[in-house]
Amino acid sequence: MPTLDSLFPAHLQTLRSRTDEAMAACGFDSLAIHSGRLWMQFLDDQPYPFKVNPHFKAWAPLTDAPDCWILYQPAKPIRLLFLQPNDYWHKPPALPTDYWAQHFSIEVIREASEARRPITRLPNCALIGEWQAEYSEWGFAAGNPNTLLDRLHYPRARKTEYELECQRQASLRGARGHKAAERAFRSGASEYEIHIEFMRASQHTEAGLPYPNIIALNENTAVLHYQHQEIVAPLQSRSFLIDAGGEVAGYSSDITRTYSTVNDEFQTLIDGMHKLQLEVCDEVRPGVDYANVHLSAHRKIAQLLRDSDIIATAPDDAVASGLSGIFFPHGIGHLLGLQVHDVSGFTINIDGKQKARPPGHPYLRLTRTLEPGFVVTIEPGLYFIDSLLESARSAAFAREINWKQVERFKPYGGIRIEDNVACTTGVPENLTRDAFAKLS
Ligand code: GLY
Ligand code: MN
Ligand code: MN
Repeated sequence: MPTLDSLFPAHLQTLRSRTDEAMAACGFDSLAIHSGRLWMQFLDDQPYPFKVNPHFKAWAPLTDAPDCWILYQPAKPIRLLFLQPNDYWHKPPALPTDYWAQHFSIEVIREASEARRPITRLPNCALIGEWQAEYSEWGFAAGNPNTLLDRLHYPRARKTEYELECQRQASLRGARGHKAAERAFRSGASEYEIHIEFMRASQHTEAGLPYPNIIALNENTAVLHYQHQEIVAPLQSRSFLIDAGGEVAGYSSDITRTYSTVNDEFQTLIDGMHKLQLEVCDEVRPGVDYANVHLSAHRKIAQLLRDSDIIATAPDDAVASGLSGIFFPHGIGHLLGLQVHDVSGFTINIDGKQKARPPGHPYLRLTRTLEPGFVVTIEPGLYFIDSLLESARSAAFAREINWKQVERFKPYGGIRIEDNVACTTGVPENLTRDAFAKLS
């Protein structure tokens, strides 16, 4: 298996050539990319958790080092201004020695303001990072110009071999957590206890997670981005939904599984979702319009709803009328990489031209045509959400819903099955299923 170490130089080369093209097209001669700043809470001396600028970690997989900079000029060594403060209150970050560090010319600074001098010497320089008031004195030619960002974002959908390997490893890390979480659920643990098991098995701290864990029992599984973790277990756990991922070198996995306590009618619905989810994963092929993958998932979910006696409508009609959207009210997935909902999901050319979502599908995050190297999520859902069901009662399709069945399923909440899938020139690579298989 190739190591990150061996794949990094070619990755850096690709990043250089994409960046050189973008800079040439936009007329910049240098870039200064800020890692980000530690923000203090209002009227307090405690910081918010640090979240690195994705453009910074695209170059250097440093996710916890505020006020560092990448200084980039085509054909020159890549400079990393590395802030190592004299600070006896906190542990200063150690000078990087990992596989990637040898590819950078590292200059230590002791205070954030020391970055000013080297940056003001850069010719015709664009800043990429959150704008700070003091930067008006630093001589930037532009701050986050959209034309440049579009050109840097667009090719990010096509992963390098290094990035794919990071995402395979992030998938393995996530799957480890998922296996432990399932065991905890089956032993009757609370949401909080399951969360702790995920963290322990995947070896994450809270700040290192790619996104906050969604760990839901019973009716809570119907809340798409459920944000709590109840400390005490319910008297009876019926169902469990976990949406949680791993991170490696700044790259994410984004994985969801749903379980039933016993082999009941809800388990049959989960089995149906796994089956259709795998069929949709197989649609991740070059030349396929992702919006059509989304519509295909809607038809399959409508068919499952009909087969389960929840609706009485033919799938095409259920999709056209919006009935399937009552049960599946989000997009089939998104690009995945340095950001969990990765950039440029609607951008269909390097100049930033946008392709709209299909009408009636406001939450789809990706409308591009798939290419080899794209990594996307495939995450069909089927939920019994009170507010949406309430709105359905006054819709024309209300009588096509079997409300008795809806009441039977409501206590289980909902189902989502989410895998991360790489488009290749042939059969898609399912990073998530491969990771679970490695652990079984
Ligand atoms: N974890 C957020 C999502 O699945 O998009
Ligand atoms: Mn997810
Ligand atoms: Mn997702």
